[in-house]
Amino acid sequence: MLTKEKIDNTFAKDVLKGLSAQPKFLQSKYFYDQKGDKIFQEIMNMEEYYLTNAEYDIFTNYKADLLNLFSKDVEKFRIIEFGAGDGLKTKVLLEHFLNKNANFEYVPIDISENVLKHLVSDLENRFPKLKVHSIRNDYFHALDHLHDDDRDETVRNVIFFLGSNIGNFKKEEAVDFLKEIGLRIGKQDFLFLGTDLKKDPKIILNAYNDASGITKRFNLNLLERINRELGANFDLNKFMHYPVYDPQTGTCKSYLISLEDQVVEIADLNDKIEFEAYEAIHTEISQKYSVSELKEIAQKAGFGMTHQFYDERKYFLDSVWELS
Ligand code: AVI
Repeated sequence: MLTKEKIDNTFAKDVLKGLSAQPKFLQSKYFYDQKGDKIFQEIMNMEEYYLTNAEYDIFTNYKADLLNLFSKDVEKFRIIEFGAGDGLKTKVLLEHFLNKNANFEYVPIDISENVLKHLVSDLENRFPKLKVHSIRNDYFHALDHLHDDDRDETVRNVIFFLGSNIGNFKKEEAVDFLKEIGLRIGKQDFLFLGTDLKKDPKIILNAYNDASGITKRFNLNLLERINRELGANFDLNKFMHYPVYDPQTGTCKSYLISLEDQVVEIADLNDKIEFEAYEAIHTEISQKYSVSELKEIAQKAGFGMTHQFYDERKYFLDSVWELS
């Protein structure tokens, strides 16, 4: 398990590496400190951020089919959710499964103690009968632990990786990540993957460039976090939030662009970072896929896509993957 000290050191090292590189970059996983988590909640409630509603609709419309599928040919199933957050969408399924007296348990995995504490206490209040076994660890360690504990073939593990979180990996990284999951699950297990699909490019770009500037705050919070945690003096007014979407590759990229020549000091690193006017820091990738591209990725990672669930507009896909 990562200690606080190790996380902080890694953060400092990664910031230095990214801002000293040419071209500059920062890793998007660092968006999610306490403040970033809150802003992300706001994003998920935004009109422009269609992803949340699309997946919510899929769960609402197909909860009965999903229960049939997850419970088919096994005595019990276990929903293992990577990066559970507030579990808002998952609760639709949990509630339905409980109402139908399904034999299942819920295993949310998150690296953040804080996130898990809130989620578990909310679930206890809302669903006193739900069996919850939360794990605070990174995903693969948590899976290793579960796999060692239980190789019982009458139990199905269903790994939930929702909300297009896989889109925050580059395509090649996504394949490697999925391969690692494949190494840790059995032939009766499922991967249940939420992916954002290619669609009208304007709709995609708007989701990352909302009119009220929430995503801008989310992106700029990375610089604020460096100010807070590493004693830097970024002036947020001197950076612009700039997302772009390439309809051919399906890659949405976000940048922070320096509006002038400037030097930023990072006191704790004893370092200065120079920016030229209009120099960009790449901060995030949100990959969109076509269904055929997803099938190709599944195959490369050693899976087959066996079931597909779309929202009405076909903006989003939740699919079931099984080891091939
Ligand atoms: C968490 N992740 C799937 C979001 C996305 O759509 O890439 C993060 C996000 N960044 C800006 N808006 C939302």
